[in-house]
Amino acid sequence: MGDLQNKTALVTGGTSGIGLAVVRRFVAEGAHVFVAGRSSDKLAAVSDELGVDVTAVQGDVSRPGGLDAVFQAIAERGAGLDAVFANAGGGEFAAIEDITWEHFTTTFESNVGGVILTVQTALPHLNANANAAIVLTSSNIDVKASPAFSVYAASKAAIRSFARSWAAELVDRGIRVNSVAPGPIATPGLSGLAAEPEQADALLGGLAAGVPMRRLGSPEEIAEAVLYLASPRSSYVTGTDLYVDGGASQV
Ligand SMILES: NC(=O)c1ccc[n+]([C@@H]2O[C@H](COP(=O)([O-])OP(=O)(O)OC[C@H]3O[C@@H](n4cnc5c(N)ncnc54)[C@H](OP(=O)(O)O)[C@@H]3O)[C@@H](O)[C@H]2O)c1
Repeated sequence: MGDLQNKTALVTGGTSGIGLAVVRRFVAEGAHVFVAGRSSDKLAAVSDELGVDVTAVQGDVSRPGGLDAVFQAIAERGAGLDAVFANAGGGEFAAIEDITWEHFTTTFESNVGGVILTVQTALPHLNANANAAIVLTSSNIDVKASPAFSVYAASKAAIRSFARSWAAELVDRGIRVNSVAPGPIATPGLSGLAAEPEQADALLGGLAAGVPMRRLGSPEEIAEAVLYLASPRSSYVTGTDLYVDGGASQV
């Protein structure tokens, strides 16, 4: 029996990087997984790989109603949700002088607004009395400084705060809320932070050098932590931010 046998989960941003590793891990543990993302090509690739164990539906977390088709599919399946991984998001570098209103709103609409909309819309579908779990993706930058990344860092500090507040609000409904705080993880999203593709290796090398373990993490290492927070293995854990960052924030 897997840790999520006969459970149903939703993963936003489940078509790439950390989210895709979590989808694969949840399916391996016996779950049926609803996968949300914007690109139809990436959604089709997930369906081709994982078949009947996933339902991949196009959705944009960053605007109200953007996940309607996803939640309609969840309602039609009729099994509710046992776990939600609100993970879709991303960022761009901008020094303080270069922060535009568009940079701020784009970052906050996906990373903060998108998490509010995902969790709010998921709540009526959660099988609360069965130890339901919500996991948010923060970042170890929520307690650190990174030059030219302040808007992104602030968006992730908001996510860390949501995990605390929503854990308090939902504890009496039998719903646990935690966040996972990755350090630098080798994903298309991280490589995409480089201004030019040929600068990606230098960026990733510099990030790895700043980690006590002297390497980037893998999406699968984050998936392990998300599985723990999403499953009954963490039944006494709520409101926490779990750092999976090679020691970067704590050592
Ligand atoms: N990689 C790291 O080092 C790292 C470290 C700390 C935290 N994180 C966080 O981890 C999460 C995943 O990052 P990643 O590195 O795995 O990135 P990634 O490889 O770029 O994957 C991002 C995923 O989110 C989806 N997505 C983005 N915006 C969306 C939107 N508005 N609506 C729906 N789906 C959306 C993307 O699909 P579409 O583009 O098709 O929509 C894709 O599936 C993010 O929240 C990121 O901030 C990453």
